[in-house]
Amino acid sequence: MPAERGGGMALRVGIIGGGQLARMMIAPAVELGLPVRVLAEDEGMSAQLAASAVGDYRDLETVRAFARDVDVITFDHEHVPQEVLTALVADGIAVHPGPHALCFAQDKLRMRAELDELGVPQPDWAAFSDAGALQAFIDAHGGRAVVKTPRGGYDGKGVRVVASADEASDWIDGLAEGGELLVEELVDFTRELAQQVARTPSGALAAYPVVETVQRDGVCAEVIAPAPHASVRLVEVAAAIGTGIAEGLEVTGMLAVELFETSDERLLVNELAMRPHNSGHWSQDGAVTGQFEQHLRAVLDLPLGDPSPRQPWSVMVNILGGPAQDTLESRIPLALGEHPAVKVHTYGKAPRPGRKVGHVNAVGDDLDAVVYEARAAAAFFAD
Ligand SMILES: Nc1ncnc2c1ncn2[C@@H]1O[C@H](COP(=O)(O)OP(=O)(O)O)[C@@H](O)[C@H]1O
Ligand SMILES: [Mg+2]
Repeated sequence: MPAERGGGMALRVGIIGGGQLARMMIAPAVELGLPVRVLAEDEGMSAQLAASAVGDYRDLETVRAFARDVDVITFDHEHVPQEVLTALVADGIAVHPGPHALCFAQDKLRMRAELDELGVPQPDWAAFSDAGALQAFIDAHGGRAVVKTPRGGYDGKGVRVVASADEASDWIDGLAEGGELLVEELVDFTRELAQQVARTPSGALAAYPVVETVQRDGVCAEVIAPAPHASVRLVEVAAAIGTGIAEGLEVTGMLAVELFETSDERLLVNELAMRPHNSGHWSQDGAVTGQFEQHLRAVLDLPLGDPSPRQPWSVMVNILGGPAQDTLESRIPLALGEHPAVKVHTYGKAPRPGRKVGHVNAVGDDLDAVVYEARAAAAFFAD
């Protein structure tokens, strides 16, 4: 029996973080009639359309007050401190993904250790806190390696390819007492892939097709779904890695697993995100159920939607930086006029070099044509 609005139906979603991922959950929430609220960091954020509070997500009382009016808490980013999350859970609030899962998306060192426990294939790695240990790792791995700050990195910030320990001396010197950095072998990958899986608190799973992602300067530039030239085995192995991690870590909501494909067709896990992810933006217009709707369904423990593609190919091209002299919105009429078949998504963010301010999705059955269409439409928003 359908409950009344505001009655017993536990379907009010509270999203912590006011960025574009929260913003893009609002559209399917409206379509499904799910009340959604956002705790934004500042006024005028991307998700201001549904922002019901502005406050510091690191402050327990702020988050507690926000959580009072919703049935489930979920996230636009992974930066909410564990102390805040565990206190909410202790209060009896449904938090998805829960702190015990989210910690592996918050801290790349914990993630590496846990994935080893699960037997998931990943690059060689080590934790270190001094130059000697880093140099020894570099020497043992062909003279180059990738150093990462375990927490707080995004879009390539906090990732550095080094040929000697000196090149990470600023990070080593900046370590707090007992702090550690992560070093990984520099993987000679042929391409990067991403596998998304949705998992509900009841344990239902839905795997999206594995996609190819193209990074420029450490930032996602384009995504092709499904990944071209993917063998049946590759597709199955990627899905098995994704579902294995979702189950092994008891992830709830959307999980994205960033992967490296090597020349000998091995897949290695790069990193995890437990929320909608840039690699899944194609699904808004290219899948039966988009990742933002799927995330809402998953965190509310509703039946999951069909993750199948609607068209043979979907291509997503990010709009990075945006026009320097102009607003993004001012470019919309021309882009829509020239490319009536593409879908333009903008985030209501001020253009800034390198910043993700929107994306374009194109779909169709001829991959070359779809790539061309998506790139050409996105180019209307570049400088
Ligand atoms: N071990 C590695 N070997 C080769 N390239 C890497 C490695 N780790 C990261 N990269 C490159 O750097 C990008 C960003 O690294 P990632 O750990 O995903 O950081 P972020 O959190 O910024 O996304 C990756 O998408 C990949 O292109
Ligand atoms: Mg990444």
